[in-house]
Amino acid sequence: MRIGVLTGGGDCPGLNAVIRAVVRKGVATYGHEFVGFRDGWKGPLEGLSRPLDIADVRGILPRGGTILGSSRTNPFKIENGVERIKDNLAEQGVDALIAIGGEDTLGVATKLYELGVHVVGVPKTIDNDLGATDYTFGFDTAVNIAMEAIDRLHTTAESHHRTLVVEVMGRHAGWIALHAGLAGGANVILLPERQFDVDQVAGYVEKRFQHQYAPIVVVAEGAQPLDGQMVLANQELDSFGHVRLGGIGQWLAEQLEAKTGKEARTVVLGHIQRGGTPTAFDRVLATRLGLQAIDAVNDGDWGKMVAMQSTDIVRVPLAEATRELKTVPLERYAEAEVFFGS
Ligand code: F6P
Repeated sequence: MRIGVLTGGGDCPGLNAVIRAVVRKGVATYGHEFVGFRDGWKGPLEGLSRPLDIADVRGILPRGGTILGSSRTNPFKIENGVERIKDNLAEQGVDALIAIGGEDTLGVATKLYELGVHVVGVPKTIDNDLGATDYTFGFDTAVNIAMEAIDRLHTTAESHHRTLVVEVMGRHAGWIALHAGLAGGANVILLPERQFDVDQVAGYVEKRFQHQYAPIVVVAEGAQPLDGQMVLANQELDSFGHVRLGGIGQWLAEQLEAKTGKEARTVVLGHIQRGGTPTAFDRVLATRLGLQAIDAVNDGDWGKMVAMQSTDIVRVPLAEATRELKTVPLERYAEAEVFFGS
């Protein structure tokens, strides 16, 4: 078979590890050929491709980003998008596609499969919000980056008797905030899954100062105050209809400073959480997902996404994985609340 590979949506560490595993096993074990499509769905849409052989994937296991490039192109928002993809696949002699992406990229893969394209999906996202898989690769790396930042912020917050608010990514899911906040010993963690009362947060902060420790508040970019409007960097929508989040950390620091009388500053970790080398956990997960994805393609098991369930890598229907976002259950949040303000 001649197999196309693409990476779509926001990048994350581990994408290259998947590409490497797919190509290494696909060529060596099954004798397949590969073509790399550039920049997510833009590649097959516009016929933008590059060679992808074993030599092209040597040395890329620890490299962050993606050698194929990425974009948030949505072919269903482009006139004749699906027909153009089908024509370009036929023209390049591509029999099947491996799409590595999050909810948007795999949402497109789900619909293309229903329209007859041979596709297998691989879940990636730092947000960890895809259904049917316990973890997505990229998440562990993002959490470790955020945890290290929180560790560093503790020491400077103590020196200056300040509140430090750390805004982390995650879109509408609070997984990064929850895990980084728990691992970093945050004083309060605020998630999109539950609106917060800013007076209660100020109370936690004051209590922490009473214990002679400076508070670290971790806030997910999608968290919202009670009865409030989400604070947005701007109102622009991308081609999948998402707004760009960000700004809640600054708003919260201003509120906390006014309510507690103690200086409060904000650190927005932003794309640092998506950059650099993957952790060992993410390299292993990405590699195992890549190996299972090429097995699924070899079996002609179209319309599936490979997923981590417990410690196994299994195949699930793409439609099941993309049906709804996996958000933080409130019982998980309750575990973290034990530490708030203390
Ligand atoms: O989905 C991954 C993610 O990093 C989100 O956590 C974040 O809201 C979004 O992508 C940012 O996207 P962009 O890099 O396009 O601004």
